Amino acid sequence: MKAQPIKPQPVPPRISVPKHPVWPSLGAAEKQALKQRIRDLLHAQNAVLVAHYYVDGDLQELAEETGGCVADSLEMARYGTTADAETLVVCGVRFMGETAKILNPEKRVLMPDLGATCSLDEGCPADLFSDFCDVHPDRTVVVYANTSAAVKARADWMVTSGIALPIVRHLHARGEKILWAPDKYLGQYVQQQTGADMLLWEGSCVVHEEFKGFALQRLKRLHPGAAVLVHPESPQDVLQQADVVGSTTALIKAVALLPNEEFIVATDDGIFWKMHQLAPGKRLISAPTAGAGATCESCAHCPWMAMNALQNLEQVLISGANEITVEPGIRDKAVKSIQRMLDFAAEHDISGALPRQ
Ligand code: 13P
Ligand code: SF4
Repeated sequence: MKAQPIKPQPVPPRISVPKHPVWPSLGAAEKQALKQRIRDLLHAQNAVLVAHYYVDGDLQELAEETGGCVADSLEMARYGTTADAETLVVCGVRFMGETAKILNPEKRVLMPDLGATCSLDEGCPADLFSDFCDVHPDRTVVVYANTSAAVKARADWMVTSGIALPIVRHLHARGEKILWAPDKYLGQYVQQQTGADMLLWEGSCVVHEEFKGFALQRLKRLHPGAAVLVHPESPQDVLQQADVVGSTTALIKAVALLPNEEFIVATDDGIFWKMHQLAPGKRLISAPTAGAGATCESCAHCPWMAMNALQNLEQVLISGANEITVEPGIRDKAVKSIQRMLDFAAEHDISGALPRQ
């Protein structure tokens, strides 16, 4: 039989990055009244907020006050399965809402803005990804949480940044070769740390990709006592300068636990709200995004996460619009890769939650 030519890896689409939305500023009394109306709506609808650390601090505060959760992607996924509520309102990006719906088909899942996607998700269309998997049937397919439900349906495992290393180590120890998507930087990092044979999709996070290694070197010289905290979606020359590399939860824990007074942080600056809450006296400095005089599109703040605000949260609770749905055929497959991760986390006692205060 004639050998089939190996198809090259598909070229992912160019991502168009939206401008940060500008929300009308609210006076203190107006904001308190709006928050109270949201509390009442949540209570009346037996709904809880499931928020990511990158969203606006007011949303994080409200989620905590009303018994919801503020967490990384791993804990957001787990939390939804345990919450005693009929509705989960996910303040984050689309894949987080879809994961909540896949794991909790009986619950209503709402989001303030369904247009809040993610460059990693957009850079990995399900049809191209499926073709890529077809060409490499000998590989275990491991996808990052930041993907569509349809991509998760094509995967053997879903992982988040908080659990990628132990899961890939486990697969490598079983002799499995891996097809990884979509974040190439996280993929390279996991490959280096585990020594696994990994074929990487060519995707990236537009926010983390803007952190610049050369400018970070200069900033470190100005702050010699600062610890450098880096999310593993960042480029290699940034990761190489890190004192701590980890998920958002891991970076927050580092600020609270390390003795340093100053931290240079290479991730979305929405995380500062939680870091300040747990370590009020410490100084947090954003890692440089593009060096002196250069421009950046996201400037250490995810434009899709910024689509979540008090105003559209109230609207969605009033209207019931923006409900997440996942086609049953996709859901039944995607749930397997997600549940595998949650089972692994439970079995190995790995949590994305912060210790209770
Ligand atoms: P975490 O799972 O570490 O919270 O990361 C999610 C994310 O989108 C980072 O950009
Ligand atoms: Fe996606 Fe990057 Fe935004 Fe995280 S910060 S949601 S990876 S675009």
